[in-house]
Amino acid sequence: MRQGEAFITTRHENETAYIGAVLGGAIARPMVIALHGELGTGKTVLVRGAAAGLGVTEPVSSPTFVLFKIYRGRLPLYHFDFYRLREPEELEALGFDEFMPGEGVAFVEWAGHCPELLPRERLDIFIERFFDHAGEGRQLWFAPQGRECALAVEKLIESVTWRVNGKLNMIPLGPDPGEAGGRLDRNC
Ligand SMILES: Nc1ncnc2c1ncn2[C@@H]1O[C@H](COP(=O)(O)OP(=O)(O)O)[C@@H](O)[C@H]1O
Ligand SMILES: [Mg+2]
Repeated sequence: MRQGEAFITTRHENETAYIGAVLGGAIARPMVIALHGELGTGKTVLVRGAAAGLGVTEPVSSPTFVLFKIYRGRLPLYHFDFYRLREPEELEALGFDEFMPGEGVAFVEWAGHCPELLPRERLDIFIERFFDHAGEGRQLWFAPQGRECALAVEKLIESVTWRVNGKLNMIPLGPDPGEAGGRLDRNC
């Protein structure tokens, strides 16, 4: 593991959404977040949480069939899904470059389908499903490149705590005072 990287294990969809929400709350500036992991690992769940942390109040749905959605929050959230992407040219038509990073936070599911289109400075998040004696879980690996992304991961790690029984301590996350919206329960 390199400096600045982090691992977090979750045991339930709510925990992954919570981690997303804490990450969303830790993001202060535009950036690109590339999500990697097989179908059903929790990429969209993580983005839903992050949306709440970024103050998005609209429900977030998977953009698999439309490639891309924009949500209004404390910073704009751009949600891409490259699962069905056939040609990188499809993205040119969308003006994809403008969003890398653009004025908001771009989450890219199946980012590995088009690695050449991503900026070098980004946060890669790899999600893996695992099974053990306690059942099913997800391993989330955060690998930041560049100062802003490293700061966001640092803040995330500082904000997450565990109970003595090893369970994630999910402290209720309200909207920042003075900020509009941003509640986890509306998006998850
Ligand atoms: N720890 C966990 N974190 C996230 N999702 C989980 C977890 N455990 C089970 N799940 C389930 O896995 C699925 C993840 O779905 P989704 O976020 O749409 O995946 P992806 O976008 O990676 O294809 C959901 O059905 C969710 O309930
Ligand atoms: Mg998805």
